[in-house]
Amino acid sequence: MKCIEQDSLSRRRSVYKLNSHLPISENCFMETVEACVEHCPTPFNVQSARVAVLFGKSHKLFWQSVWEALQAVIGSKQIETTKKKIDSFANAAGTILFFEETKALMALKKQFPQYAHNMKIWTQQANGMLQYMIWQGLSENEVGASLQHYNELVEKSVNKMFDLPKTWELVAQMPFGAIESEPAAKTFLPLDERVRVLK
Ligand SMILES: Cc1cc2nc3c(=O)[nH]c(=O)nc-3n(C[C@H](O)[C@H](O)[C@H](O)COP(=O)(O)O)c2cc1C
Repeated sequence: MKCIEQDSLSRRRSVYKLNSHLPISENCFMETVEACVEHCPTPFNVQSARVAVLFGKSHKLFWQSVWEALQAVIGSKQIETTKKKIDSFANAAGTILFFEETKALMALKKQFPQYAHNMKIWTQQANGMLQYMIWQGLSENEVGASLQHYNELVEKSVNKMFDLPKTWELVAQMPFGAIESEPAAKTFLPLDERVRVLK
């Protein structure tokens, strides 16, 4: 008996070489995303994570706006490599934007004032769990993805650009697509440094 599907866990990687030909239908893609959004655990079942799935023009527009914002802050030496990187995201099939609904966080703090100082930490942790669930779910469907954080650059413009509620706070971006080439092997710390069993 297999205790856990290790192959499935190790297959999920940060994949940067992506193209726009999704190996699954848009319906199957959305079913995967929605199942993760629905079933991901959240503190006090607050369900404060929000996602926007960008395909086509919206996806291109998003990376164009990241590139425009980046140009204002990077030095001339970085232009070429940065443009290549942003182009690699823009050449993918789409991008999932992860947000937190700040109204839900405020309500939760009010409801449980004794935990107020921890609530943002917990909602951010839950958002990270959702990012992982979707990343893993896509990998099981042979869709490659990576996790990006261009939040500061575009958080003031992105909600307006896609007509999203002002109360949604941008947390992360996940470009996804067909895997053009597999990432290099990664290294692991010894497990006995990271896991202890106490009896
Ligand atoms: C919370 C978190 C933040 C990350 N942020 C970024 C990021 O901003 N850009 C990026 O290219 N990768 C980012 N990564 C991906 C990690 O670099 C990557 O997961 C790690 O090197 C292990 O490689 P793997 O994803 O292929 O297993 C992030 C991963 C996590 C869990």
